[in-house]
Amino acid sequence: MKAKFIPYNRPLLKGEELLKESIKHYHFMESRRTVREFSTEPVSVEVIENLVMAASTAPSGANKQPWTFCIVINPELKSKIRVEAEKEEYTNYHGRMPQEWLDDLSYLGTDWHKPFLEDAPALIIVFKKSYDLVNGKKKNNYYTTESVGLACGYLLQAIHQCGLVALTHTPSPMNFLIKVLNRPENEKPFLLIPVGYPATDVMVPDIKRKSKEEVLVYY
Ligand SMILES: Cc1cc2nc3c(=O)[nH]c(=O)nc-3n(C[C@H](O)[C@H](O)[C@H](O)COP(=O)(O)O)c2cc1C
Repeated sequence: MKAKFIPYNRPLLKGEELLKESIKHYHFMESRRTVREFSTEPVSVEVIENLVMAASTAPSGANKQPWTFCIVINPELKSKIRVEAEKEEYTNYHGRMPQEWLDDLSYLGTDWHKPFLEDAPALIIVFKKSYDLVNGKKKNNYYTTESVGLACGYLLQAIHQCGLVALTHTPSPMNFLIKVLNRPENEKPFLLIPVGYPATDVMVPDIKRKSKEEVLVYY
């Protein structure tokens, strides 16, 4: 059934003002970096909730919003997740992943140790719902990977906007998270995102982003 339609009211920017805003936003987004060392300084649960709810405003196929965000702040549970993630990562770094993968990651200087899983005050674990379960019946979701990817992008943007930092983490395979967090059968782990303040004097790899010429094509 067609929805009731409501007015869309947002301030419109034009000309110089629009140009200035676009430059400001680009530079702000350019300053975002993945951080792998966190301070143990707490962040209130209310803040984490607001970040998640901002992420949950993302567009999604047929507005199905096919995501669940699990917030883990309990230290014992964080430790359990670290143990399980490090088991997988140890295997990844010791033979499971091909040499090309290790070579592609070498610039990061990462290894199987994942202390940030205990140091960060909150872990946000995003699950993708390939279908919904309504009264035990399966209801289709659409473009779930695209939708959940967008929600995660919104989450990273919100974290950056608030002056906090995040790590997009994929301790693959991530199925251990289903068991540890006791998630239902229709949810698959998508990303594990530690959030918090950066460790004092934290350093990040000096990577280059692709140029306009490399990523942009005009027709
Ligand atoms: C889907 C995805 C998975 C990632 N998984 C990991 C990971 O498991 N461990 C890690 O240290 N970084 C991971 N990253 C972070 C990337 O290494 C990082 O985004 C990239 O080096 C660019 O750096 P920047 O985010 O600072 O621009 C992942 C990023 C994405 C988008």
